[in-house]
Amino acid sequence: MTRAARALINLSSLRHNLSVAKKHTPEARQLAIIKANGYGHGIEEVAQALSAADAFGVACLEEALCLREAGIKQPIVLLEGVMYADDLPLVREHHLQLVVHQIEQVEMLENSPGVPIPVWLKVDTGMHRLGILPGEAPAIYQRLVEASAVASPVRLMTHLANADDRRDDTTMRQIYLFTPIASSLHTETSIANSAGILGWPASHSEWVRPGIMLYGVSPFLGSTAANHDLKPVMTLQSEVIAINKHQRGDHIGYGGTWRCPETMPVGVVAIGYGDGYPRHALSGTPILVNGKRTQVIGRVSMDMLCVDLRGCPGTHIGDPVVLWGEGLPVEEVAEKAATIAYELLCKITSRVNFEYLD
Ligand SMILES: Cc1ncc(COP(=O)(O)O)c(C=O)c1O
Repeated sequence: MTRAARALINLSSLRHNLSVAKKHTPEARQLAIIKANGYGHGIEEVAQALSAADAFGVACLEEALCLREAGIKQPIVLLEGVMYADDLPLVREHHLQLVVHQIEQVEMLENSPGVPIPVWLKVDTGMHRLGILPGEAPAIYQRLVEASAVASPVRLMTHLANADDRRDDTTMRQIYLFTPIASSLHTETSIANSAGILGWPASHSEWVRPGIMLYGVSPFLGSTAANHDLKPVMTLQSEVIAINKHQRGDHIGYGGTWRCPETMPVGVVAIGYGDGYPRHALSGTPILVNGKRTQVIGRVSMDMLCVDLRGCPGTHIGDPVVLWGEGLPVEEVAEKAATIAYELLCKITSRVNFEYLD
């Protein structure tokens, strides 16, 4: 018997979500962000399913090499570039593209003649994570254009810090800072992440970089995927493995943080933080038993969690439970666990069986 915890990955929903990105940005090329194992969905399967993407964005060389080994032919952009000149032969051999975000990387390229590498110069317009200062962009851009190790065109990008909040004016300030630089350099640019694609038309340019929306999650505070015609890709499931009747006043689970308000049935579900379900999900976190919405009660343990079965008469051992996905937005669970859907999706552990549906 295999463990009941499994993640069903709906690849046609993934493709649908890419088509939503395209509908919003019909003129743009799609640089699909599939770092962190395809946001936890399986990087190879995601890349294969997204054959309509124009390019892929990953965090590091290892992720890119994994895609090339799987036969992925599209351009692949290393979003942090590389740190060491020793990595450049692999970059060239596998036809990878580099984000350049600091002067050391420019110098590295200038000192590494060879097959020209396509490069994206990253400008920090307000995220204050990676990127060169806007005032330095024209001169550094020129150095890259003149470096024999750099292919033409040198593209320009920036990353939005607060686009998930549509009332925050940081996004427009970032765009106003970036646009004149881009216009003066007459090159292809990329600004928009998922929130930019769906909510900030001024951020649309030659390339867009959808991430979380591809996986069927709303990038905005206070809205769910369905509000944007996005379909959940991962449905995390398990089964009821025990049903116990408890008396009024009984405490449930470690620390006894939840007390039965009446005599009631409590289900035990085979999933816990060892599978990636968040330990910090509060009592009251929504969960579906046989498709019916109820709540997690007590602390989540490593392999199990408990559910309130008062509203679920007729529940049997072996019945299906949905932790998030179809019928239960992961955004809701994330909110109850004081985190974001990105983190929940990325953190499913290797003991969960992944099944791919097309
Ligand atoms: C540089 C860059 N572009 C695009 C994205 C995609 O962002 P999102 O998942 O919010 O669409 C990310 C994700 O963190 C990123 O780091």
